[in-house]
Amino acid sequence: MRLRRRDQLATAGMLEMRDRRAHLAVADERTQGRSLMTRKVLVVYATKAGATAGIATAIGAELRRGGHEVDVCEATGVGPIAKYDVVIVGSAIYMRRWRPEAVDFLRKHVHELRDRQVWLFHSGPVGPDKDQAQAMPRKVARLARKIGATPATTFAGRLEPETAKGFLAKHIAQGNLAADSREWLRIADWANDISSAISAVEHTP
Ligand SMILES: Cc1cc2nc3c(=O)[nH]c(=O)nc-3n(C[C@H](O)[C@H](O)[C@H](O)COP(=O)(O)O)c2cc1C
Repeated sequence: MRLRRRDQLATAGMLEMRDRRAHLAVADERTQGRSLMTRKVLVVYATKAGATAGIATAIGAELRRGGHEVDVCEATGVGPIAKYDVVIVGSAIYMRRWRPEAVDFLRKHVHELRDRQVWLFHSGPVGPDKDQAQAMPRKVARLARKIGATPATTFAGRLEPETAKGFLAKHIAQGNLAADSREWLRIADWANDISSAISAVEHTP
């Protein structure tokens, strides 16, 4: 999915700042005689109008900057996941539900995901509601428990007339909820925390 120009600029600005921080952190590890472990990471997302794709792309970029090998895939197009150490799964929320393809992905791979480090996120609240954490739908919560994943992190989403899909979405996007509320620095911080957590540090003599 192609990012809009504004998304690209926001992501680029965010990445430039993060780039500098990531390089400093890596340099710091090196000067202390330690090396960071590279992990294979899969970021899976389910979207209707593209906002969650942008978030997944930003997460992937941040993890790459942390030195990891990352693939970012739409939930409908994911191949075998055996080669990945870490899987991050995110979905847009509609009517308090995850997109069915994200739920199908979790269900289909539940056993393999149990053996991997898994993080979940969802993208939903916009405008005045943007800071309201959203509960995981019951089905997703049940799957998360089976997998052993912590509850999904909520990221603010986007609902705008130009990108809204469907009659209801276009109608709501005319009102006071309409906004691109995605918080790129918060998203990058979250990805950066994961990046650090999965980089097992090896001490060299
Ligand atoms: C009809 C409709 C229902 C929505 N329901 C919810 C909801 O239950 N909870 C929520 O947090 N956001 C809800 N949203 C906001 C979307 O989740 C938000 O716009 C999201 O970022 C869209 O992601 P996408 O562009 O990846 O599809 C809804 C939006 C629409 C148009």
